Amino acid sequence: MNSKAMKESAQYIESKLEGKPAIGLILGSGLGVLAEEIEDPIVIPYKSVPHFPESTVSGHKGQLVAGRLEGKQVIAMQGRFHFYEGYRMDQVTFPVRVMKLLGVEELLVTNAAGGINEQFEPGDLMLIEDHINNMGTNPLIGPNDEEIGPRFPDMSQAYSRELLKHARKCAEELDLSIQQGVYVGNTGPTYETGAEVKMLRTLGGDAVGMSTVPEVIVAAHMGIKVLGISCISNMAAGILDQPLSHQEVIETTERVRQDFLSFVKKIVKTLP
Ligand code: 6GU
Repeated sequence: MNSKAMKESAQYIESKLEGKPAIGLILGSGLGVLAEEIEDPIVIPYKSVPHFPESTVSGHKGQLVAGRLEGKQVIAMQGRFHFYEGYRMDQVTFPVRVMKLLGVEELLVTNAAGGINEQFEPGDLMLIEDHINNMGTNPLIGPNDEEIGPRFPDMSQAYSRELLKHARKCAEELDLSIQQGVYVGNTGPTYETGAEVKMLRTLGGDAVGMSTVPEVIVAAHMGIKVLGISCISNMAAGILDQPLSHQEVIETTERVRQDFLSFVKKIVKTLP
């Protein structure tokens, strides 16, 4: 947690911005299209921001997009940094630290995830009510800066009850049927084996992915309210008798794009 680097990044971004963003968006695999809905966008490539790592995986863009969405000032990450790419946990979560310095108080995190819950179907949207950190590490390991957050942060409210309630109401008003459940964060880059999926189901997981958990831990550390949405892009291994592919992940997120866009826009528009 390098506060000097965080401040320099934030200062650079601030110098490009017109308004102060109160809402942060992290857009996962195939969900980056939401950034195209931002009005009067200011696009800042990660590689131009001092101290930002650079994104590599296909299907992710690697830029910040700031502007107005449904009348609210937002800043979106179009593409994120994944632990499996080789970034350290402090690099994966660095943009969340910077967002806080920019004034972000509410963070909407999205991802593509595999369905563990057998009631789920590819294309479902799942509100994340809680997570299981199965990454074998934690972004807060190391010296703690009490100015930024507590040594032993509470995680019982990591996913804001208020925002969950708000999102459910939005879904109802849109007549959109949505799921709710527990997201398991694995490191990847392999998908799980059938046996691992069975284990994760026994442990209480409903969906599994390779992101989100580090960012949410850091958001909780800094007191940012989080709303998490998973797009169930495929069923995890062992449920259907078929191999998993990144192609399927992309195809499903494209198929549910419209629902996802209207849902997030409605949430942002009417955010408490
Ligand atoms: Cl099945 N597993 C993981 N770990 N991440 C995913 C996924 C599955 N589907 C999309 N992302």
